[in-house]
Amino acid sequence: MKGEIDRSKLPKHIAIIMDGNGRWASKRALPRVFGHKAGMEALREAVKGCSDLGVKILTVYAFSTENWNRPTDEVSFLMNLLIEYMRKEINELNKNNVKVKILGDISGLPKVTREEVEKAVSLTENNEGIQFNIALNYGSRAEIICACKKIAEEFKEGKISSEEITEELISEYLFTKGDIDPDLIIRTSGEKRLSNFLLWQSAYSELIFVEEMWPDFNKQLLERAILEYQNRDRRFGLVK
Ligand code: FPP
Repeated sequence: MKGEIDRSKLPKHIAIIMDGNGRWASKRALPRVFGHKAGMEALREAVKGCSDLGVKILTVYAFSTENWNRPTDEVSFLMNLLIEYMRKEINELNKNNVKVKILGDISGLPKVTREEVEKAVSLTENNEGIQFNIALNYGSRAEIICACKKIAEEFKEGKISSEEITEELISEYLFTKGDIDPDLIIRTSGEKRLSNFLLWQSAYSELIFVEEMWPDFNKQLLERAILEYQNRDRRFGLVK
């Protein structure tokens, strides 16, 4: 795609489905986990790229509620990779003013993984640079069910009336509470679906599917996706 990124029309919130780690590795006759390891490097570059450009929020799908059904060895590898990622990256993230936030229920993660994640969140909580949302043990339907249950409880207790149940109110009960909805969702590896990611929040997101596998995602591909986004006509259901 030709042209330059218009800095005044950047997507404020970019969300990424980092898909294709396993296929990237298989193509190289390597075990799948090598793909995850390479995916971690691509993630570092994506955070830096978005932060340098001035994107306000980057959300990545790191581990879904369905991913627990993968082979035990792969799940353990990913849980350990998260520890490695946090330990390796946290000082750099903090130095760059990145604020880490988790989307998902991390109470079910192995203890050490949970502790490292919690440490990263608390260390960076007052940072005012890019907000880096990591969706971990995240599933959008579960998130919506959880919101419905909380709202039902508060309704029962008389704390909210049915008239008060609006889009804004529901958004306040999701993990993304306080965040603007993603303007742009990128999925790598050529798959074209959302896979239970940000279903409520993506109502008006632009979706961009790139053919490259996640470990091959880089600054150029990020910029190309942003450029394509800037060439889209966002109407939000209105007529121009
Ligand atoms: C999808 O590829 C990727 C994942 C399920 C895990 C994402 C993890 C990383 C990018 C590693 C770094 C992240 C952190 C936060 C440490 P896949 O395994 O489904 O690939 P496939 O579709 O080719 O099998």
